[in-house]
Parts: sequence; C-alpha cells; structure tokens
Amino acid sequence: MHYSHRIGDIKLLNIGEMAFICLDIRCLCIFLIYTTCDYVLSSDTEIKVNPPQDFQIVDPGYLGYLYLQWLPPLSLDDFKECTIEYELKYRNIDSERWKTIITKNLHYKDGFDLNKGIEAKIHAVLPGQCANGSEVQSSWSEATYWISPQGNLETKIQDMDCIYYNWQYLLCSWKPGMGVHLDANYNLFYWYEGLDHALQCEDYIQANGKNVGCRFPYLESSDYTDFYICVNGSSESKPIRASYFIFQLQNIVKPLPPDYLSLTMTNSYEINLKWSLPRGPIPAKCFIYEIEFTEDDTTWVTTTVENEVYITRTRNESQQLCFIARSKLNIYCADDGIWSEWSDEYCWQGDKWKEALIFFLLPLGFISALVFFVSYLVLYKQETIPKMVSCIT
Ligand SMILES: *[C@@H]1O[C@H](CO)[C@@H](O)[C@H](O)[C@H]1NC(C)=O
Ligand SMILES: *[C@@H]1O[C@H](CO)[C@@H](O)[C@H](O)[C@H]1NC(C)=O
Ligand SMILES: *[C@@H]1O[C@H](CO)[C@@H](O)[C@H](O)[C@H]1NC(C)=O
Repeated sequence: MHYSHRIGDIKLLNIGEMAFICLDIRCLCIFLIYTTCDYVLSSDTEIKVNPPQDFQIVDPGYLGYLYLQWLPPLSLDDFKECTIEYELKYRNIDSERWKTIITKNLHYKDGFDLNKGIEAKIHAVLPGQCANGSEVQSSWSEATYWISPQGNLETKIQDMDCIYYNWQYLLCSWKPGMGVHLDANYNLFYWYEGLDHALQCEDYIQANGKNVGCRFPYLESSDYTDFYICVNGSSESKPIRASYFIFQLQNIVKPLPPDYLSLTMTNSYEINLKWSLPRGPIPAKCFIYEIEFTEDDTTWVTTTVENEVYITRTRNESQQLCFIARSKLNIYCADDGIWSEWSDEYCWQGDKWKEALIFFLLPLGFISALVFFVSYLVLYKQETIPKMVSCIT
C-alpha cells in the first residue's frame, strides 16, 4: 500500500516537471497545467469516508445472543461503483483480545457473556481500487452494552453444573447464593437458535423450598449451537444478581457405561476384550473407551475408539483376568465430554472353574456315595432280619 502511494507521488512530480519544461509550447502547456492542477487538487482533497451511522448493540432477549447493527456512512454517493466494507471489532470489556469481522452487511450477530459488559467499534473501509490504490478507512463508531447489575455478587447462584446425560436429558444444578433471604428463589431461563424466545424451566429440582436445579424437556436440534442460560432470582427484601452461561450441549455429554463385556482367549497368549455400545442415540463413531485391564495383580489402562481390543497376556498361567470400561465422546463429535461411570467388572477366572467343579462335585459325590451305602445297609438288614427270625422259629 505504501509502495503504491509513493509511486503516486513520483508520478505527480514528473507531470509537474513536464509542465514546467513545456511552458513555451502554448497549447500543450495549457492542457498540461490543466491536468496537473486537476491532479494536485484531487490528491490534496484526500479521499475520505464517513464512519457508519447509528451503530448499536441490540439485545433481543436471547440471554447473550446480541445483534450489532449500523447504517451506511453519509455521502457515499461519491463511491457509487464501490462496495464499501466494514471492519467490526468487539469483545467483553475485560478481555484482552478483540474479535475482528470484515463484512459488507449492515449487521452481525454473536453470543456474548452477559455477566460482563460488551464493547464494540466499527469503521467503514473503502477498498484500494476505489481510492487510487490505497485503502481508505473512516474513523471508528463505538457502542457498548451491559445489563446493569442488580443485587450484590454474593446473591448469585454458585457451582452451576450442567450435564447432558446420554445426549438425551439435560440437567443443571446449582447452589443458592450466600446470605439470601428466606423468601428468595431462583429461576432458570434458556434459549438457543431455533426458539422464538427464551423459555423458563418447567421442572425445577427443589431443596428446602428453593429451586436448585432444572430438568429440561426434550431439546430439539439443540446441539452444535450455543446454548444460553440465565439464572436470576427474586426476593422481597433485596435484589438478586443474575448469572449467565453459554455452552454447547455436545460438549457436556455424559454417556452411559459400555454394556455386555466379554473376554475370550483367542490363543494362549492373546485375549480379546469386547463390549457393546452404551444404549441410546449416540452414534458408534462418537465414542472413545477407556479400558482398565487387570491380570492377577498388574493393572493397565488403554483407550480405543473401537468396541474391542486385543491384549497380550504377560504370563500364560495367570489366574484372574478382569476388565472394566467407560465411555466418552471423542474428538470427532465434541470438543469435550464427561466420562461415563465405570461399567460392572467382567472377569475370566482361568482354571478356577475346574477347582470350583472339584470343590462342588467332590462333596456331592461323597454324599451320594454315603446315601447309597446307608440305604444299601438298611435294605440288607431288612432282608436279613426276617431270615434270622425264620431261623429262630
Ligand atoms: C484517481 O486517480 C485518477 C488519475 O490516476 C484520477 O483521475 C481520479 O480522479 C482519482 N480518483 C480519486 C477518487 O481521487
Ligand atoms: C429473569 O430473566 C428473564 C429472562 O431474561 C426475565 O424475563 C425476567 O424478568 C428476569 N427476572 C428477574 C426477577 O429479573
Ligand atoms: C506358555 O504357552 C506356550 C504355548 O503357547 C508354551 O510353549 C509355554 O511353555 C507356556 N509357558 C508356561 C510358563 O506355561
């Protein structure tokens, strides 16, 4: 950009010199002076663009999803053939980095953390090809927005925890703020793109008469989009500070543990561990599993995205082989996730079954032999007694 500007200056000089040299040739001279003057004039009256008008941040009541909107700069008629662009910068007031957007539109929408204020600025940009090579920028228009905080900080809810169980049931829980009066209670509102307006929780979880959680209804196409929550409250005695949260539901999924674990010896040194997908709507490709395998008294942990794994035995006389498994969403489906509970343990107990068999069969055989022997004795005696009697008589 600087380079092209310089070239412009040099050109100007050259034309000036030429005009001077040619002064004695009249008709040509007039023409040249005319063009020179014209050129100097236009580069003196710098190309300017006014800033965008009516820049404002509008809160449609979506708990953090805000509209930034503006109108074109005044006197744009000079650049009729040009598409003006806008450079928009915005951030939460205490964050260090601005988000920058270049757009030709007159609005932009994004999600913000309403616990803090928001500041934004915008300027109009005239592209280089409309302004003799170098881009021209207007001054900034600025706007700020914040929800004036009510109540003091301690009245906010604490320890908000939201889990999307098995990608099906969303449940949030929290603790009441400190030092709130007995009459204080909390309300949860939520919104995501697709809902006309923010909705209030319909199924609160309560403790001591206060709302401390919410069971959400079925949330249609609510994943892979920002999910906004506001928990505010009311109290007769003093106002309560609202809390705002933004997350994406796929990132807080806690699946069910894997089911139907099995362990088979493929040969004397290799073992195949297998399990089935947790029940529910989560596709097979979305899981990662953690397997904790125990061979006698050594344990190791491995992870896999398949629903089976082959493990080499370290000793072939190992007696006890056990494993447990748990599941989580993998990076192909979510940025984050919560591990499921561990499954029930599944064990293969080497030759123990033979011992068990002997342990059960030996006494059983012994008892049946005894029974047989006793009954034989009884029968034998019954036969011999009459004989003896007959002998006596
Ligand atoms: C750009 O420069 C040309 C000459 O190179 C001139 O005719 C034109 O008026 C200039 N445009 C503006 C917007 O100054
Ligand atoms: C709580 O937030 C909702 C949604 O923004 C709002 O409609 C309601 O008036 C607020 N309640 C209080 C007590 O501030
Ligand atoms: C382990 O099994 C292999 C056959 O797979 C056998 O050759 C070897 O002797 C066995 N070792 C022990 C210690 O039993």
